[in-house]
Amino acid sequence: MDLSDFDVFRDFLHETCGIFLGENKQYLVATRIRRILAEHDLASLTELVSALKRNRHTKLRQMVIDAMTTNETFWFRDTYPFDYLKQTLLPELVSQGRGPLRIWSAACSSGQESFSISMSVEEYRRSAMKGLHREVEIVGTDLSSVVLEAAGKGEYDHMAVMRGLSRERLAMFFEQKNDDTWRVKADIRRRVSFKSLNLMDPYIGMGKFDIIFCRNVLIYFNADLKRDILQRMHAALNPGGLLFLGSSEGLAGASELFKMINCSPGIVYKAL
Ligand SMILES: C[S@@+](CC[C@H](N)C(=O)[O-])C[C@H]1O[C@@H](n2cnc3c(N)ncnc32)[C@H](O)[C@@H]1O
Repeated sequence: MDLSDFDVFRDFLHETCGIFLGENKQYLVATRIRRILAEHDLASLTELVSALKRNRHTKLRQMVIDAMTTNETFWFRDTYPFDYLKQTLLPELVSQGRGPLRIWSAACSSGQESFSISMSVEEYRRSAMKGLHREVEIVGTDLSSVVLEAAGKGEYDHMAVMRGLSRERLAMFFEQKNDDTWRVKADIRRRVSFKSLNLMDPYIGMGKFDIIFCRNVLIYFNADLKRDILQRMHAALNPGGLLFLGSSEGLAGASELFKMINCSPGIVYKAL
């Protein structure tokens, strides 16, 4: 691959979705983009970027984003955020305040995180003596249209349901449609909605949240963008709202905005 071609593409991806590719990612780009170049009769990455810049809202742009985002996810990832939600946060928060309790699952990929939150809420609701005093609203957002479409369907194949779900949860919260398809049941789906959002864009229109899950996405961004996103998430939280990050992620320059709370074996960040 021509090095200047790679640089042009790298800059484009960084400007468009914040994803920063290291020098050693040429092979990754080549393998992920090869098919798109062939299908659109484009000779190089520079030609691809020129085509993308000519028309900002093309299907081509979405294809490149879908190809270059890493959508790895699974159910109840890291366990502790969902346990802490169910055992500590929900009992506190559902008895306070009015209106729905709002949870944002930012960069939700194909929906496993958002539905794991809804299953945790349902488990809490069933165990609570008086049920839920407040409705819970979960908003899942992502930049990739392919994963959002999958999330919206709420259908998963055998491989996907094997990753992180206990037998009990699979039986309780899913219906089997055929040999290789399980669908999340309606009572879990009804409190979750999905929409497209690039985390680099303004969050106006999202409203305020009590809890934000923003996990395993900041790792792809540089320090300035991480800080900017964390500052804007802080602004999107209600006073004292809570933020879960991925287990290998930290507050990166925005530590003055949050207080760390130990929820062993992890941490949750409370807005100051
Ligand atoms: C590794 S997945 C994490 C999924 C889930 N949060 C989890 O922890 O399992 C990262 C997701 O971030 C999304 N993403 C990457 N850049 C983004 C951006 N600028 N805005 C919104 N989502 C983005 C990708 O499409 C991908 O689905």
